Amino acid sequence: MMDVLLIGGGAREHAIARALKKNNSVKLYTLMKNKNPGISKISEKVSLNAETDLNAIKKFAEEVKPDLAVIGPEAPLGIGVADMLWEIGIPTVGPKKLPAQIETSKEFMRNLFKKYKIKGSLKYSAFNSYDGVEEFIDKMTNLGIEVVVKPVGLTGGKGVKVVGEQLKDNEEAKEYAKEIFEKSIGGGKLIIEEKLVGVEFTLHGFVDGKTIIFMPPVQDHPHAYENDKGPITGGMGSYSCSDHNLPFLTENDLDEAKEIMKNTVEAIKKEVGAYQGILYGQFMLTVDGPKIIEYNARFGDPEAMNLLPILKNDFVEVCNAIANGELNKMNIEFENKATVCKYVVPQGYPLNPVKDREIFIDEDKIKKIGAILYYASINEKDGKLYTTGSRSAAVVGVADNIKEAEKIAESAIQHIRGDIFYRKDIGTLNLINKRIEKMKKLRK
Ligand code: GLY
Repeated sequence: MMDVLLIGGGAREHAIARALKKNNSVKLYTLMKNKNPGISKISEKVSLNAETDLNAIKKFAEEVKPDLAVIGPEAPLGIGVADMLWEIGIPTVGPKKLPAQIETSKEFMRNLFKKYKIKGSLKYSAFNSYDGVEEFIDKMTNLGIEVVVKPVGLTGGKGVKVVGEQLKDNEEAKEYAKEIFEKSIGGGKLIIEEKLVGVEFTLHGFVDGKTIIFMPPVQDHPHAYENDKGPITGGMGSYSCSDHNLPFLTENDLDEAKEIMKNTVEAIKKEVGAYQGILYGQFMLTVDGPKIIEYNARFGDPEAMNLLPILKNDFVEVCNAIANGELNKMNIEFENKATVCKYVVPQGYPLNPVKDREIFIDEDKIKKIGAILYYASINEKDGKLYTTGSRSAAVVGVADNIKEAEKIAESAIQHIRGDIFYRKDIGTLNLINKRIEKMKKLRK
């Protein structure tokens, strides 16, 4: 039996916890902020602390003395939790602070692309003050380019604003840039980039510092409401296909995306040292091929719930290979199954979510339907379950094709009740066809 320390308490970490426990070869010790009922049920011991509390994590790690640690969310990576764990002798899945900058500093990421001439670079400029912002945006306006304004640091997915979505035009982008400096959002530094037009997809890789092994691509749905309307969220659900591609992506597009990520891993190593963990590339498929919107230094949430259930290998062995730099010795495979994941979220999410409302989840009925249930931001108190302000729980259907997988997820989600909502359209052929059509039109 191996002892594994898991950091994080969302649905992504529930998927990680399940995958680690699949062969019953590990004892799990989890540090998380809220008591996730799914994770706590399969953990030997739980420490309820903030995932950014370095001292609490160190204390728990020294008490448990795990053989391996797995870090789920980005915030602990950004403050050097992996560095601390390696220092006290614990092999860790999740990059150290400097390589994690690929997510935690948008400026580091774009500069890396420029310096190492990685394909898919785009027009951008970074600013430490408002000086020069107006001139740069005016230059973009004159070129007919709409912009994206990104605080440089982590903002919990709420800082990036895009012209045509949250911002009316490039003039409004200037106002938002001003606000970032005034309110010190995301560290009070920003980057302005050209807006990419196309269809988004995500590609994940297991990375051991030298080798990257890719997982099937997934498509997430960041908008809160059906038909891709409403505010941007952490992701309302996602799907993946049985052929390990997506219907709007050619083999060539996928190869190009893989090449970009491979080159990024090599560049990170040269620049700041080896990257060991999960690398998540959020791509926009444009008419000029795939381009990186941003990287995450961890599994996507919800994407982890599409990928981990169809991983054929023992995830514990994959994690050991990541930490030991031995991925080249592994033959990693995924089942040829389609997956559809749908999230339930509190009413009002993400802008004004209702909080601390009781939620009712019929685990047995969901299991009978054949779906997988993952708990997210739910608090267990006195045997009852309560929502927080974040995403509450997700169901995943796994089947031979998308249609079947969607049917399973849709039936299962009916057995979650409360002051919640979800997107019925995720994984439906109607919505997927819209993506295919959009890409066809752009490519004409
Ligand atoms: N799927 C969005 C994220 O994990 O950040």
